[in-house]
Amino acid sequence: MNIILANPRGFCAGVNMAIDALETALRLFGSPLYVYHEIVHNRPIVEKFQKLGVVFVDDIAEVPTGGTVLYSAHGVSPVIRKHSEERNLRAIDATCPLVTKVHKEAIKFAREGYTIVLIGHEGHDEVIGTMGEAPANMVLVEDAADVAALTLPADTKLAFLTQTTLSVDEARAVIEALKQKYPQVVGPNKDDICYATQNRQDAVKKLVTEADVVLVLGSQNSSNSQRLAELARTTGTPAHLIDRVSELRDEWFRADDTVLVTAGASAPEEHVQDCIDYLKRKFGASVETRTVREEDVNFPLPRELRVLTNA
Ligand code: F3S
Repeated sequence: MNIILANPRGFCAGVNMAIDALETALRLFGSPLYVYHEIVHNRPIVEKFQKLGVVFVDDIAEVPTGGTVLYSAHGVSPVIRKHSEERNLRAIDATCPLVTKVHKEAIKFAREGYTIVLIGHEGHDEVIGTMGEAPANMVLVEDAADVAALTLPADTKLAFLTQTTLSVDEARAVIEALKQKYPQVVGPNKDDICYATQNRQDAVKKLVTEADVVLVLGSQNSSNSQRLAELARTTGTPAHLIDRVSELRDEWFRADDTVLVTAGASAPEEHVQDCIDYLKRKFGASVETRTVREEDVNFPLPRELRVLTNA
């Protein structure tokens, strides 16, 4: 068995920052510490922090008055910030700056009188947060069929934005459909899909042609991880999305397979290595790392923590 280990894979700058922020807040304030939504969409990380006394909530009302709450990497709507203020909470904003950028674009377009079409997945934390910036001015579409069903007047002053973790190819198709139907639509230069999502998809696209099977480390509710598995499947290559080595199934592999291994932006490297170790033991696999693009992106801790740590 050959393993092609895709690079870049795994943690992005936003996830690194959010995890650093939570660790720093735990050190400074102790537990219980509250996080609004999952800090990042990854089961093993959430479970690890739960054991350390972090409480993940889906409603700000669950945080005791005066308590400390972290906003997850996916961002929150202004309503949530207001609820926190009303409950006198100490709020630490671990929103990824690339998500904040989309929020700012939404605010700007709404102020300028645009109706905004947000391309994204219904119910995703990031989409809920972004829509909250201008709920009266925004409509959500997931695909070209949703664009076809839009009933906005033909001359609507229209802008589009995208969720940061979409399939690059699918987003392009939806933007094209929008431009066909509403030629006047404006948007960011290209889209808002972040560098990490783009790079991990580019690596899979480039390397999948050499693979018999693809293994993606990541959680089922992780949008960018799901997109990696889907991308592999569009080429006819079977792909399995798992959180950890205990979910691996021997019957997915043959001894002479080439296995492409990658990981979503919120999946810890230790689980990648556990899987590789297992495949080495079970199938005598050898590993070749293939770097498609170098990444050198870092984000600082949230301002609220920088002030306290002098970082
Ligand atoms: Fe941010 Fe992209 Fe990661 S939006 S959290 S850098 S997947």
